[in-house]
Amino acid sequence: MESTLTPEAALASLAWQIELGATEAIGDVPLNRYELSEKATKTVARARAASPEPAPPVTDPVVEAETAARAAPTLAALRDALAAFPHCALQQGARNLVFADGRPGARVMILGEAPGREEDIAGRPFVGRAGQLLDRMLAAIGLDRRAEDPARAVYITNVLPWRPPQNRDPQPEEIAMMRPFVARHVALAAPDCLILTGNISCEAGLNRRGITRLRGQWTEAFGLPALPMFHPAYLLRNPAAKRETWADLLALRARLSEIPE
Ligand code: URA
Ligand code: URA
Repeated sequence: MESTLTPEAALASLAWQIELGATEAIGDVPLNRYELSEKATKTVARARAASPEPAPPVTDPVVEAETAARAAPTLAALRDALAAFPHCALQQGARNLVFADGRPGARVMILGEAPGREEDIAGRPFVGRAGQLLDRMLAAIGLDRRAEDPARAVYITNVLPWRPPQNRDPQPEEIAMMRPFVARHVALAAPDCLILTGNISCEAGLNRRGITRLRGQWTEAFGLPALPMFHPAYLLRNPAAKRETWADLLALRARLSEIPE
């Protein structure tokens, strides 16, 4: 392809596109994959309307998610069920399924929001800047996602397993669709307690937002003791809030010393 750009301008344009969230080099003409899938759906619908076959029953993605999640007997099966779940359009724009990191069976399970660019590339949750801050926060109270000992170990996942385009906020329908998978994930990982980071995790686990009021108060989510905390990405933008988060980490440490292992 001939280009009229100077190498410097091309480089600056590329940096700008990466800043906007581009992760792949593609053609000159933009392709809206969401629209494509809509077109495909319409074509199928037209073909169905034209055929004498009865239309298949309308499916409710949340009910399907519940069925698929409940049927998964292991974490590996749950991962496969998520990969095969056809109703979340985010999957089409994501590079990798981001399932979990750390040790299943750890006493503490962390529920994040959704993968960002780094996580989408690595296929692991919380590996970017927010993840590095999360690791430092955990280390401050003796926890480590690489630890073998369940008392020191951590298990980490997100509400959404696929990166939303341009890191936009997960939408309520997406959270509702993924909640059954999160519930099953918690049951199979079997931690002693949950940390809900930020509003999206609170919506998934508690059906409500308002992290500023919720943080630091033990509550219950997915049948387990749960502690809402500020999201590490929020702490990167608002370092002053680390003071409250330090208090919350101490509350977690105190709780761990109270619950028998
Ligand atoms: N933020 C999240 O909530 N989860 C990740 O995995 C990374 C950043
Ligand atoms: N909003 C969020 O979603 N999370 C925070 O931690 C703070 C504000």
